[in-house]
Amino acid sequence: MENVVPLALNGLMSAVTYFCTLQAIKKFAPKFLQRGRFGIDLCKSSGDRIPESLGVVTGTCFLVQVFIFIPVLFLLTSAHGVFRHDLLVEILAALLSICSMMFLGFADDVLDLKWRDKLSLPTIASLPLLGVYYVNFNGTTVLVPKPLRFLLGGSLNLGPLYYIYMCMLAVFCTNAINILAGINGLETGQSLVISASISTFSFVEYFLRGELGHVLSLCLMPAFFGTTLALYKFNKYPSKVFVGDTFCYYAGMTFACSAILGHFSKAMLLFFIPQVLNFLYSAPQLFKLIPCPRHRLPFYNRENGLLLPSTTTFRTDTLKPNGVRVLRFLQLFRLVKVEQHQEPHTVEINNLTIINLILVFKGPTNEGELVRLLMRIQIFCSLVAFSCYYAIGQVLF
Ligand code: UD1
Ligand code: MG
Repeated sequence: MENVVPLALNGLMSAVTYFCTLQAIKKFAPKFLQRGRFGIDLCKSSGDRIPESLGVVTGTCFLVQVFIFIPVLFLLTSAHGVFRHDLLVEILAALLSICSMMFLGFADDVLDLKWRDKLSLPTIASLPLLGVYYVNFNGTTVLVPKPLRFLLGGSLNLGPLYYIYMCMLAVFCTNAINILAGINGLETGQSLVISASISTFSFVEYFLRGELGHVLSLCLMPAFFGTTLALYKFNKYPSKVFVGDTFCYYAGMTFACSAILGHFSKAMLLFFIPQVLNFLYSAPQLFKLIPCPRHRLPFYNRENGLLLPSTTTFRTDTLKPNGVRVLRFLQLFRLVKVEQHQEPHTVEINNLTIINLILVFKGPTNEGELVRLLMRIQIFCSLVAFSCYYAIGQVLF
C-alpha cells in the first residue's frame, strides 16, 4: 500500500483547493457578467443576470490540483521503488478526455451546439480512454448472475461489444447531468452525491478489498469533490452563479474515466439511478418521437412563486407511429399528464423529465423544497446502490 501517504496528501490538497476555488469564483464571477456570460434565472421573478459557465473556473482549479498531485504521487511512490507507468498513462488519458469535455461544454455554452455534436464529440473524446483500457487491461468478460449460469455459463466474453458499451457510457455520463438540470443547485448537488459515493466505494474497494484499479478514482475524486463543493456554495438555491454545460460535461466525463479505467463501469451505473431513469423517461423527447422545446425546466408561476410542471403542446396527428405508441404507453402507466385541447387532435403534456414528473405527482412546489427533495432521492438511490452491490451482489455473483 505504497499509495497511502500520497492519497492522504491528495485529501489535504483538496481542502486547500476548496478555499482557493471559493476565492477564484468570487474573483471571476463579476468578470463573466462584464463579458456578457450570464443567464436569466427562469424560476424567479427578479429577472437578475446570473454569471454563467463558472464550471470553467472550477474545472481549471480541478486540473491544477491533479497536475500538482501527479509529481507528488510518482515521486513518493518511486521512493518505495515502485513506479506505475500504467497508472501515469491512465491519469494522463483521463485528463485528456476531461479537458476535451470542458472545451466542448464551453463551446456549447457559447454556441448552443446541436444534439448530434453533443453525442458525437464525447464518443470521440472517449477514444483515448478506450485505447489505454485496451493496452493496460483489455478485460471484456462479464460475470453471469448465478440464476442464469445454467444457460450462459459462469462468464461471458463480450469482446468488441464491451468497448461499444464503454463508449456509450462515456456519452451517457457526459449528458446525463446536463439533462437533469434547470433548478438551482441541482447540477452541483447531484455531482457531489455521486462523487462522495464513488469516493467511498473506491476507498472500500482499494483499502479493504485490495482492488488496485480504484486508485485512479482516489486520485481524481478528491479534487473534483473539493472544487464542486466550492461551486455548490454559490450555485445552491438561490443561485449566485450558474455552472454552465462546461461543468455538467466535465463532471460526467470525470465519473466515466474513473469507472472505465478503474474497471467498475457496471457498478458505477448504480450511482446514476436517478440519471438513468431521467434519461429513459426523456428518451422520447431526446430522440424526437415527441416534440422537445428548448427548455424543459419547470414552469414558474409568478403569482405564488411556486413551480409547476412545464408542458409541450402538439398535434397528435403529426407524431410518428412510434411516438403515438410511446405516448399511449406512458398514459397507460400514468407517467404523463395529458390535457386535451379544444382544437382537434391537439394535446398538452408535461415535459418528460423526472423533475416535472415529481411536480405532476406532488403539485405546485417551492424551488428550494424541490431541489432538496431531488437531493434526498439521489442520496437514497446511492444507499440503494451500496446495498445492491454489497448485499444482493454477493448473493447473485
Ligand atoms: C438542458 C435541458 C433543458 C433545460 C436546461 C436547463 C434537455 C434536453 N435540455 O439544456 O431542458 O431547460 O438544461 O439547465 O433536457 N437555468 C435556470 N436555473 C438553473 C439553471 C439554469 O433558470 O438553476 C436556466 C438559465 O436561464 C440558464 C439556462 O437554464 O441560462 C442554461 O441552460 P443550458 O445549460 O444552456 O441548457 P441546455 O444544457 O441546452
Ligand atoms: Mg446545460
